[in-house]
Amino acid sequence: MMRALQIDECGRPPAVAARPEPVPGPGLEPVRVVAAPITPLDLLCATGTSYFGTPALPYVPGVQGVGSAGGRLVWFPTAAGMAPGDGSMAELALARAEDLVELPEGADPYAVAALGLSAVAAYLALTWRGELAAGEQVLVLGGGGAVGQAAIQLARLAGARRVVAAARSAAGLERARQAGADAVVPLPPAGSDDVAGLARRFADACDGPVDLVLDPLYGVPAAAGARTLGQGGRLVNLGSAAAETCPLDSATLRSRSLRILGYTNNELSREQRAAAVTYVAEQSAAGRLAVTHEVVPLERAAQAWEQQSSGAADGRIVLAFD
Ligand SMILES: NC(=O)c1ccc[n+]([C@@H]2O[C@H](COP(=O)([O-])OP(=O)(O)OC[C@H]3O[C@@H](n4cnc5c(N)ncnc54)[C@H](OP(=O)(O)O)[C@@H]3O)[C@@H](O)[C@H]2O)c1
Repeated sequence: MMRALQIDECGRPPAVAARPEPVPGPGLEPVRVVAAPITPLDLLCATGTSYFGTPALPYVPGVQGVGSAGGRLVWFPTAAGMAPGDGSMAELALARAEDLVELPEGADPYAVAALGLSAVAAYLALTWRGELAAGEQVLVLGGGGAVGQAAIQLARLAGARRVVAAARSAAGLERARQAGADAVVPLPPAGSDDVAGLARRFADACDGPVDLVLDPLYGVPAAAGARTLGQGGRLVNLGSAAAETCPLDSATLRSRSLRILGYTNNELSREQRAAAVTYVAEQSAAGRLAVTHEVVPLERAAQAWEQQSSGAADGRIVLAFD
């Protein structure tokens, strides 16, 4: 038997349970899990309201993790909550052999787990979808989240000349500052519809027109961010942490031929994802990329899950299995 976190009912907190060790089928490899982050995607899938539908119950959550497989330290993805099967939040998990990504020498498993797909999304939304070029100015919304903190550092690594970040909470603003933002702008409380006022505060913090907005929030922050863009500027949306819709006016969009783009990790090829994980892990091992995180033992997982879903956690919570 092994210990695992288990979702018994959608919308209810998970609990630690004893479960039989999974038996690898064809193409699957067992991974002795070291670290598994609790991410927004895990929380969303467990509500049963995601666009993947209601998961078959009970199941072990966790769409990614770091562990040892065949004597190697690897990062691995799972489809837990999005398709039938169990995820990474167990002492032993199964992953497709071709999905395993061996981590470079010196990589810290907890730091890489905290970065994981959040940093992959930040990296590819900036560089692949957003076509960030050296010397450009970037505005990162949600700069205190895992995606935002990673985006601030990754934009810098890609040669951005100025990186401005926006965050909602005092703690989020501080995390964005720590990540290296040149300036940080507080976001108004939820319910504010003052797009023009926020756009003015963004413009004050920026050095002329913005080239690229990295947007995990949507809603009023995205509409205000779009107004800071210069001719041909790009806004890449990868989440809706603030709102599902966005009051973006046509004049802003058409007058500067803006490009509003969507991004999802689910579209990546296996090779693209592996290359991005490798880049993220290399930058982490070199001390150039990190997101604030707290390592919590499995015994405290149910409480940690609640903390992460209520927004009370100080950064990403990573479950430890050793
Ligand atoms: N498309 C993809 O492939 C992809 C990949 C990864 C993540 N995402 C999405 O991107 C979003 C952020 O992910 P994450 O990993 O950075 O999550 P996270 O670490 O949990 O951070 C959430 C962020 O959202 C901010 N936030 C939450 N509610 C807000 C509101 N009402 N107004 C303004 N800001 C708000 C928080 O601000 P404070 O820090 O100020 O509290 C924090 O910065 C999530 O929606 C996630 O699902 C998408």
